Amino acid sequence: MDYLLTEEQKMLKEMVAKFAQEEIGPVAREYQAKGIYPEKIVKKAGELGLFGIAYPPEYGGAGMDFVSYMLAIEQVSRFCASTGVIISAHSSLCVDPIFRFGSEEQKKKYLPGLCSGQRIGCLGLTEPGAGSDAGAIKTTAKLHGDKWILNGTKQFITNGAQAEVAVVIALTEPEKKAKGLSAFIVESGTPGFKVGKHEEKLGINSTSTTELIFEDCEIPKDNLLGELNKGFKISLVTLDGGRLGIAAQALGIAKAAIEDAVVYSKEREQFDQPIARFQALQWMMADMFTEYEAAWLLTYRASLMKDRGLRYTTEAAMAKLKASETASFCANKSLQIHGGYGYTKEFDVERYLRDAKITEIYEGTSEIMRLVISANMLG
Ligand code: CAA
Repeated sequence: MDYLLTEEQKMLKEMVAKFAQEEIGPVAREYQAKGIYPEKIVKKAGELGLFGIAYPPEYGGAGMDFVSYMLAIEQVSRFCASTGVIISAHSSLCVDPIFRFGSEEQKKKYLPGLCSGQRIGCLGLTEPGAGSDAGAIKTTAKLHGDKWILNGTKQFITNGAQAEVAVVIALTEPEKKAKGLSAFIVESGTPGFKVGKHEEKLGINSTSTTELIFEDCEIPKDNLLGELNKGFKISLVTLDGGRLGIAAQALGIAKAAIEDAVVYSKEREQFDQPIARFQALQWMMADMFTEYEAAWLLTYRASLMKDRGLRYTTEAAMAKLKASETASFCANKSLQIHGGYGYTKEFDVERYLRDAKITEIYEGTSEIMRLVISANMLG
């Protein structure tokens, strides 16, 4: 579907595909098996501008559009879904809200370091009791003189261990519940702010997923991000973009699963012929490719809407729903095509299946996506 892309987008896609194939591909399996955070790759990706693709050069970004960002996440995720979400959680969930809602001073202070990848970012939204019900946050922020004092625990935070800048959502007026939430910028090293438990996970094992703990953590009054008590809306607007980042990650996983199935089925011989000659497999592959293209088009449409400044909440939910379920579908079928070998760690396809599953869960489960889509239909 490259004919839908501009020359600049095509060039970026090719550049990132080359980088991912040469630099990430050879180490992805080992890193994920050992749970190694890809520090050198992250550094190189930063040098290539991948941590600030869609932000203006005046803030250290590459000045490209959101579609370009999505193409980059997909290409990286074709080789390593962990690296894909490291970049996506950083860009969509931390850089984006600071760019959109930050004061000029905050943008100048935080964006250059984040866009260059020198500082990693994360979003502290989810809590043990506030997952799908994101408005049920218990972390508080109380104003004392010229400081906000934060108390509470965030959970399942992607990039939690590496992040030097966190956008944190906390209650400023608890009696108002979700309408009393505000967003803050918190830097690592601030007294009272520490990283808690590291989760062991089924997949995306080169990423960190941690708790963030705030115990009488004092931050400057000026670190309020956006308007007071607008934290829930800031979160939901941020998640619209984040969901597209996850859709792109899912597309990358689906593409890798399809490509591996094509290669394997042409090489593997049974009953005196390559298994690709069997119609049972051909139909599986036709379904995989068709699902992938449908998901790609939904994702491209929502990304284009974001680039054009249109509201794209429903379209982002559709894209994430379709792309994540497509990633799981394609990984599952590809593993089936690989047969017994696919079930072993000798091939990447078992990793695709494990990595695909999380795309149906984080940044809004498939059930929440269906809720957002049907709410738009039913009012
Ligand atoms: N953009 C702008 N405004 C929005 C919006 C959007 N996308 N969605 C809702 N709003 C507005 C509504 O219009 C409403 O405004 P008013 O109060 O002015 O009327 C307000 O926000 C509240 O909206 P709802 O009444 O729809 O809120 P709700 O509580 O009924 O439901 C929800 C909201 C859709 C269920 C929401 O809670 C949700 O998306 N939950 C899932 C949370 C989620 O995705 N968590 C993932 C965490 S991030 C992560 O995974 C971590 C990581 O590191 C990867």
